[in-house]
Amino acid sequence: MTQFEHVSVMPEEVTKYLQPRPGGVYFDGTAGAGGHSKLILEGEPDSRVIAVDRDPAMLEMAAQRLAQFGDRVTLRRASYEDLLDVLDDLNLESCIDGALIDCGPSHDQLAGRTVGQGRGFSMHGGDEPLEMAYDPDQPRTAASLLAELSESELRELFGRTLRGGEVGRVVRTIIRERGLEPIATPERLTRVLTDALRSKGPDTGKRVSAAYAGLRIAVNDELRGLERGIDAAVEALCSGGRILVLSFHGGEHRVARQKLRELEGGPIGPPRLIGGPEREAKVKVLTRSPLHPSDAEVQRNPASRSARLHAAERV
Ligand SMILES: C[S@@+](CC[C@H](N)C(=O)[O-])C[C@H]1O[C@@H](n2cnc3c(N)ncnc32)[C@H](O)[C@@H]1O
Repeated sequence: MTQFEHVSVMPEEVTKYLQPRPGGVYFDGTAGAGGHSKLILEGEPDSRVIAVDRDPAMLEMAAQRLAQFGDRVTLRRASYEDLLDVLDDLNLESCIDGALIDCGPSHDQLAGRTVGQGRGFSMHGGDEPLEMAYDPDQPRTAASLLAELSESELRELFGRTLRGGEVGRVVRTIIRERGLEPIATPERLTRVLTDALRSKGPDTGKRVSAAYAGLRIAVNDELRGLERGIDAAVEALCSGGRILVLSFHGGEHRVARQKLRELEGGPIGPPRLIGGPEREAKVKVLTRSPLHPSDAEVQRNPASRSARLHAAERV
């Protein structure tokens, strides 16, 4: 495996809002290449990190990068949704001091740079298998969804990341093409999507990439997972402990904002539905508007452009 130095997103802001403290226990729900965990462990020499990832190949990368911290770091293959079970398994009886969820795929997954073959996360993935599952043992893959979903299910799936007029063209083209030959590699899917979205001219690549994101979100049930993950993290936090979410697209921004507002005792759903029943406040939201990366960071790491940081404190 080649060693890459993954660039973690919004490192200064993550440290500022997480506020690691001596002896603190932190949960990294998306270990990835271990960048944010390393930041916590280096910044606060007495701290401990429990980090999980659904992708064993990413955990291997994290293990290499974090080896220097010895038993201050515990890595587990799990979904952050199962945080409470992970803590139980580790016999950790106390609450945790902070939790971080850094949504979406890592650059290593997108580039097919993890151990073994790439798994079709990127439109440039060539003849990789079109899986897109963070957990490689999960039966549901992008290829299986494209083969099995009905027209209305495909419309709903692509409707999350494509614009109104694009959805119908993409779905019709997929249904026609899957009748001719399975869509089982990025090479074929990119061709099918480019055909459907061609009239977008120079923007076609971005629209194809948005369609890939819609598929990946569905394969991994990412939005429901994020809601559950935030709930679980808030349950596990000590009073004064903080939850941080880094989101990267409209669907994630919305789930993070609404879920934290709901846990603050605010109304469920969009602002116009204000008037719903008041609920017990479990957190205080610290970022009324989510934070953006600085111009300097975007220049250094253009992939950070769409990142938004949401933070809340357990009351
Ligand atoms: C953006 S990367 C994290 C990068 C990491 N923060 C760093 O600085 O190196 C996101 C990681 O989350 C993992 N992931 C996605 N959904 C997950 C879930 N529900 N539970 C655990 N890991 C998940 C992916 O496999 C990926 O490795």
